[in-house]
Amino acid sequence: MKVEAQPASNGALEADVIAVPVGPGGVPESARSLDGVTRVAEEEGLAEQVGKTAVLYPEGPARRIVLVGLGAGDELDADTVRTAAAAVAEAAERVGGTLAWHLDDSLPHAEQARAVVDGVLLGSYDPGRWKSEAKDEPPFERLVLVGGEDDLVDRTARAATIADAANRARDLANTGANELTPERLAEHASELAARHEHLTAEALDPEEFTKLGMGAFAGVAQGSHNPARMIVLRYEPPSPKGDVVLGLVGKAITFDTGGISIKPALYMEDMKGDMSGGGAVIEGIGVIAELGLPLRTLAVVAASENAVGGGAFRPGDVLTAMNGKTIEITNTDAEGRLVLADALHYARELGATHLVDFATLTGAMNRAFGDLYAGVMGNDDEWRDQIVAAGEESGDHAWPWPMHRRYRGLIDSAFADMKNSSVRGQAQPTYAASFLQEFVGEGPWAHVDVAGTAFFTWGRNDYLSQKGGTGYGVRLIAELATRLSA
Ligand code: BES
Ligand code: MN
Ligand code: ZN
Repeated sequence: MKVEAQPASNGALEADVIAVPVGPGGVPESARSLDGVTRVAEEEGLAEQVGKTAVLYPEGPARRIVLVGLGAGDELDADTVRTAAAAVAEAAERVGGTLAWHLDDSLPHAEQARAVVDGVLLGSYDPGRWKSEAKDEPPFERLVLVGGEDDLVDRTARAATIADAANRARDLANTGANELTPERLAEHASELAARHEHLTAEALDPEEFTKLGMGAFAGVAQGSHNPARMIVLRYEPPSPKGDVVLGLVGKAITFDTGGISIKPALYMEDMKGDMSGGGAVIEGIGVIAELGLPLRTLAVVAASENAVGGGAFRPGDVLTAMNGKTIEITNTDAEGRLVLADALHYARELGATHLVDFATLTGAMNRAFGDLYAGVMGNDDEWRDQIVAAGEESGDHAWPWPMHRRYRGLIDSAFADMKNSSVRGQAQPTYAASFLQEFVGEGPWAHVDVAGTAFFTWGRNDYLSQKGGTGYGVRLIAELATRLSA
């Protein structure tokens, strides 16, 4: 979708669909001359109802005018604008062409325009790609921001690039594990790297990662007929700013059966989305390259299936991770932390100064925060808070989650350096993070548990109303990298 700005005096506005947001200030100044708009906005009480639409069929070049509620004063924010924009895209989906959005005064134009792009592109995503009559075109070809300043265009076009990448991450999450094997994900990473200068990809096969000593990753991988891959992407911009090497690490379990500690059947199909963290990391580094940010970045994605079978690892097994630490397996369903253990250590070895991992790690995170916020833990409060701030700004909501060294006690093992799970149903996200901390080496690290936000069993009542992958993390990563390279 191409983005353009137009001054408020829009005499020659050419659009197929005109969107008129109705916020606390009523209809924006620039749209008041449109016939019937002010009256209908009032009659329908649109200002108070986020995402409620009223469609007018004007005489003149535009085919539709869509009025949409932005929400009352204290509730209006970037998310309500995203939801309103998604509602416009839905209402005018069959018209397509050029959408002209009249900017309102309720939010700074840059923030509002970015939210409109998010709402249109993320809101119109269709997970039904495998239906015989699937359509995969975005609803609009062009977005005109009426009343917008020229410098808005560039920033808003970036938002479109980022939203497209988030939608690609959703495609990855929604693809069944028969199609998206670890090998296929590695190929996807290579294809992405081939499209961008300064971005390279490689993937270690089982022989290679076993030789490097990745015993934790290899333990999870050994149960599947689909061979695992440790995927590495490197982005080396020609003139990087500063000394930071951002290390993005992702869990990409292409399907999590739980292994021998098998999961219940209900909703097990959603475990095709257990690679969402890895998908976000791949598309995240891709978008950093596409935006040409002057930030050295590294991505390590542990891609494997967690399968049941004669070759599968078992409870009681002891695995040795790449950093030499030994792990007693008490639950094969706590596989995410095992694959991340080696991926985190490897990312540090490859030169990452600042680590952040994305993983659908614990069901308890979903129980605690639901589908709106991811929990962020780490070994460095300042770094953790930078992740949280980038998330909040981008629309990928994130919230700090506590860590304390005393939690570590629950993963003490009688046989090995640690065990991979605790039978106590307490503070599961923190235990998982305490486990990860054993493998992150020196320097800042943060862990984003996206179990509730990355893949929806049910849609959310906002601009992410679809079931399945959400692309969570791509916008956060793009925002974080933009800030780190400013
Ligand atoms: N992939 C799951 C976590 C998950 C559950 C993500 C539901 C999204 C929705 C993870 O591998 C897992 O199974 N975690 C276990 C850990 C436990 C065995 C210590 C969990 O949270 O139950
Ligand atoms: Mn599991
Ligand atoms: Zn898992």
